[in-house]
This record gives sequence, structure tokens and C-alpha cells, in this order.
Amino acid sequence: MNTLDLVSWFVYLTASVLFVVGLHFMNSPKTARTGNRISAVGMIAAIVMAFVHLAVGGFVSSVAVVVLIAGIVLGAVAGVVSAVRVKMTDMPQLVSIFNTVGGGAAALVALNDILSSRGEPSMVVLITAGLGILIGSVTFSGSLIAAGKLQGVGFLRRLSLPQRGIWNVIVAVLTIASFVMLCVQPDRRVLWSILTAVLALVYGLVFVIPIGGADMPVVISVLNACTGTAVAMSGLAIGNVALIVAGALVGAAGVTLSLLMAKAMNRPLHTVLAGGFGTSESSSSQGAGPEGTMREGSADDLAVQLVYASKVIFVPGFGLAQAQAQRELADLGEILKSHGVEVLYAIHPVAGRMPGHMNVLLAEANVPYEELIDLDDINPQFPSADVALVVGANDVTNPAARKPGSAVSGMPILDVDKAQHVVVMKRGRGRGYAGIENELYFRDNTQMVFGDAKSSLQAVIAAVKDLLA
Ligand code: TAP
Repeated sequence: MNTLDLVSWFVYLTASVLFVVGLHFMNSPKTARTGNRISAVGMIAAIVMAFVHLAVGGFVSSVAVVVLIAGIVLGAVAGVVSAVRVKMTDMPQLVSIFNTVGGGAAALVALNDILSSRGEPSMVVLITAGLGILIGSVTFSGSLIAAGKLQGVGFLRRLSLPQRGIWNVIVAVLTIASFVMLCVQPDRRVLWSILTAVLALVYGLVFVIPIGGADMPVVISVLNACTGTAVAMSGLAIGNVALIVAGALVGAAGVTLSLLMAKAMNRPLHTVLAGGFGTSESSSSQGAGPEGTMREGSADDLAVQLVYASKVIFVPGFGLAQAQAQRELADLGEILKSHGVEVLYAIHPVAGRMPGHMNVLLAEANVPYEELIDLDDINPQFPSADVALVVGANDVTNPAARKPGSAVSGMPILDVDKAQHVVVMKRGRGRGYAGIENELYFRDNTQMVFGDAKSSLQAVIAAVKDLLA
């Protein structure tokens, strides 16, 4: 091993340690920013080292160095601009796009390793690079479709496959067969590696197209795990320790999150991956919806209920994030608490559009962590609550989830309908992410306060202050 190799191994190892330390700091929202910065330093060190290794070691031509610099600058600018500009509520789409890029890059690295190898690659390289191509390509096309669905691109959300289960099986079998052929016929590696990539790209499409509705969070998480695994496989193929560790961390974190989310959604992971929930075919109730009328209330009515309550549970959802009304909700909570009302926040694991969305949002507004209560612990408390105030949450409160046949069936929900009074703040009659009507809004103990969550909460705060003055 020469000096350059030694230095690069040391830098990659340091970068890997920084990734692990950074991830550890992400355990708590309080230290997450520091964790992110530590990991970013590790990533910058790894990128710079890879560049120096190629340029100084003379492994690439001077034209390639210019191309590399242009690529690094372009990638950095695109990454910074998109991360700065993206709205918090559009984060899942951005994560999906990053998965697309990550999976695609891992597949290309592995493909290049196989195609440019002089002589027959070893079995280890064939297997790891082959898996890098396969998983990276599935992630590339699957994440692209997922990003489009999350962005609400109309035709993608409506897209479905006839006999979708059959397509899944056929394409999966062909993809695996092609990967096996790559390993057993290394002399025809160009054919088999390209075929594996093409089939895996098709599999990514048939895998994600049928999945939708309330299952999308689990799918994003699975694709995230795939990105990490593909990167780790490519790292193994080219012998890069930073890629192996970074990929393994993302892969392991993605698998853990997928299992936790599938459990939280009460969905066996294999049924999510097979598709079927939350799609137009499975949601027979999509168009019909419950019958009845919605009772409309005002900010003043709500203020009276809140002031005379002894226990109030706030139920935040995507609409709270959309309205950026977290500070108003926290202010209302503080006013009620100072008046002696017990105030709790009910946190559903998939409320909003990303894991931990409500925790992050409410932490921004300095709501104490101990007031954020998880689904299992808050549900028994609804019957003793005088008011459940639902702010921009919809699917996570829909009692239709308790019955079969809808896009949210089987998903555990917050039992807000069991509170004495339910008040729902939303702008109008818009549906939730799963696209179905919410039975809760037609119940006798439910009142609707229509309007943007921020202005509605401001009106309620003013009315509560008037009552308490
Ligand atoms: P949703 O079901 O998406 O409902 C949000 C509600 O907020 C809508 O019905 C909308 O009704 C209302 N709203 C939107 N903007 C508003 C505003 N400015 N002011 C007041 N209300 C507003 O939200 P949820 O209950 O949080 O459920 C989350 C859904 O997203 C689940 O189906 C989940 O599976 C899915 N999902 C979650 C994730 C993760 S990881 N959390 C990722 C992807 C998808 P109006 O239009 O009438 O106002």
C-alpha cells in the first residue's frame, strides 16, 4: 500500500467515524443539527479525498478532472439550493429525489466497475457489484415514481397496473435470473449487467406504481434502505470503506424505520411491498364517503369550550405544517395551561408527511417533549378529554380505518371521536392524503371551524384572551 492509499484509507475511516457520531447526535431533536453538521464534515472529507486520490494518483485524465470538478460544483449547488428552498411539507419528495440520485449513482458505480474491469472480475466483485446494479436501479426508478406520487402528480397517483401481482413476480424473477447469469457467466458480463440494470429499472416501476395512500411513508423508508444497501454493495465492489459504512448506516436505519413504520401502521411489511392498500382498486369507499351534515362552529364557540374545559387534547396533522401554525398552537396551549387546563398533544406516527414531522414542528415552537404523547399512550386519554382540537389532521383521525375496505383500513388512528367534544380546524372540505372522506366530520359530537389553521388559531387565541380578561 503506497502513501496515497494509506492517507485515503485513514481519511475514509475518519469520515466513517464522523458518520456514526453524527447519527448518534441525531437521536434527539435538540442535538440533531450538530449531528447533521458532523456527518456533513465527514462527507466533505470523503468527497475531497476521493477527488485527490483520483487526480494526484493519476487515475484520470486532465479532462476527467475538469468534468469531476464541474460535477462536484453542480451537485453541491443543486443540493444546497434544493435543501434551502424546500418547504418542510415537501421534504418527503426531496428525500425521494435524493434516493433516486443515490440509487442511480450506486448502480452506475457498480456498472462501471464491472464494465471497465480488465480480465474476469472475481466472484465477490460480481456479486457485490451485481447487487449494487440491481438494488440501485430498483431504487432509481421506484423513488422517481414515489417522488411524483408524493408531489401529487395527477397521472402518477391514478396509475395502476392490471394484474399487478403477476407483473411483480414476473419481473422480479427475470431480474434475479439475469443477476445469477451475471455471476455464472462473467465472460458475458456486459450483456448480463446491462440486462440486470434494465430489468431492475422496470421492477422499480411495477413495485411502486400499485402502492399509494397511507402506505407511501413505508415505501419511502424501504427505498431509503435500498439506497443505503446499493451504496454499501458498490462500496464493497470498489473497496471504498467510506461508501461501505455510509451505505450500511443508511441501509440499517432504513430497514429499522421501515419495520417501525409498518408496525405503527399495523401493516405487515410484505403486504405493503406487494401493494394493494391505499390504491384505487382497494379503496372501494373512495368516491362515496359517509352521509350526513357537518356542523359548523366559530372561533368564539371554540374559545368558550376551551376555557371551561379541564382537559384538552390537541391533535396536529399535515394542515398545521402547511399553515405553519405551530407557534399559535403552542401559544394557545400556554394560555390554557396558565388558566389551569390540562393540555396534551396527540402524536400519530405518520401525521404530516415525514417520520417525526409533528415532533419537529412542535419542538420548533418550544412545546415541552413531555406534553407530546404517542398514539398508544394518548388513545386511552381521549374519553376523559373535554375537547379534542384537531388542527389540520385528517387521515390519522378517520374512524373508517377501523372497518375494512378503505384506503386507511387497518391503520391505527387517534381515537379523537371518543372525546366529549371534537373540534376540527381545516380550510374546507378537502380530503386527506389517502383521498377519502372522514366520517369523524359527520359525527354528532364534532364541530368544524373552517379556515386556514393559522388565522383560525389566532382568532381563537383572541377570543380566549377576551374571555379570560
Ligand atoms: P392529511 O390526511 O394529509 O390531511 C391534512 C388535512 O389538512 C387536509 O384534509 C386539509 O383539509 C387540511 N389542511 C391543509 N392545509 C391546511 C391549512 N393551511 N389550514 C388548515 N387545514 C389545512 O394529514 P394527516 O392526518 O396528518 O395524515 C397524514 C397522511 O399523510 C397519512 O395518510 C399518511 O399515511 C400520509 N403520509 C405520511 C407520511 C409520513 S412519514 N408522515 C409521508 C407520506 C404520506 P383542507 O384542504 O380542507 O384544508
